[in-house]
Amino acid sequence: MSRVAYVNGRYTPYRDATVHVEDRGFQFADGVYEVIAIIDGRLVDEEGHLVRLERNLDELRIAHPMSRAALRVVFAETIRRNRVRYGSLYVQVTRGAARREFPFPQGVRPTLVAIARMLDWDKVAKHAAKGAAAITAPDLRWARCDIKSVGLLPAALAKQAAKEAGAYEAWLLDENGLVTEGSSSNAWIVTRDGVLVTRQLDNAILSGITRSAIMALARSEGLAIEQRGFTPQEAFEAREAFVTSTTSFVMPITSLDGRPIGNGAPGLLAGKLRVLYEAYAGHQAAGTLPSAPYLAP
Ligand code: PDD
Repeated sequence: MSRVAYVNGRYTPYRDATVHVEDRGFQFADGVYEVIAIIDGRLVDEEGHLVRLERNLDELRIAHPMSRAALRVVFAETIRRNRVRYGSLYVQVTRGAARREFPFPQGVRPTLVAIARMLDWDKVAKHAAKGAAAITAPDLRWARCDIKSVGLLPAALAKQAAKEAGAYEAWLLDENGLVTEGSSSNAWIVTRDGVLVTRQLDNAILSGITRSAIMALARSEGLAIEQRGFTPQEAFEAREAFVTSTTSFVMPITSLDGRPIGNGAPGLLAGKLRVLYEAYAGHQAAGTLPSAPYLAP
């Protein structure tokens, strides 16, 4: 079966799925995106992702390409036509195509693209059972990381550095030496006292939908959460560490810059939260639990 992408109103075979050379996403990274997990053909936390998408569009004054209800139809149809049962949906909205001038063009329709791809969640789970390595890297991104912009070059550079070091993720450090987040995930540690620590929501990080779900699950388990920045040194002294994202769920981080975290094995709490999240995500996709909310900074 050949894959199709949704591009500006059409479900198009991959080889023909293109946007204009003067699309502002291509020339200015003038656009935003979402990645949403697909479980059994349905989206996980679709509502939370839609709210975040619309909020990001509003922050950048990009017109909404269509109503929330219409977007849901496009997403479902893109999944259906590609017959993806387990995977992810990528959605991108740009300000549209116009003659290259820096200020916003007038009267231009936003570009909307949706792509569904398969993903082996069992493989991710096996990776999580082993744990993953992370490195630290300077946070070279802009001052509005709360917006899920397609300007991903600093994230790509950090991820490449991680890959070349044999690591799964790069934890980005701000000018005070505090971890902001991973290049494509939120970063967490568990202190010796069993307190979960993850950075507060501000302009320095993306408010993850998975982070929001994990927070609710952790609270329901009676776990204490502190929202603040932490240093790599604190991570070395921590009991465990992990990252959360749409595509990794909960991924234990067992080493940082080649030094073990905790006893160097996946942490108990990370494992527990992963089990809880897997169950939650399955139920959420099936529609028996409400979506985790997008928490605005
Ligand atoms: N990345 N922080 C950053 C910088 C991210 O890019 C992501 C997601 C997250 C986690 O957000 P969520 O839980 O809503 O996925 C945090 C996606 C998966 C990506 O770019 O592929």
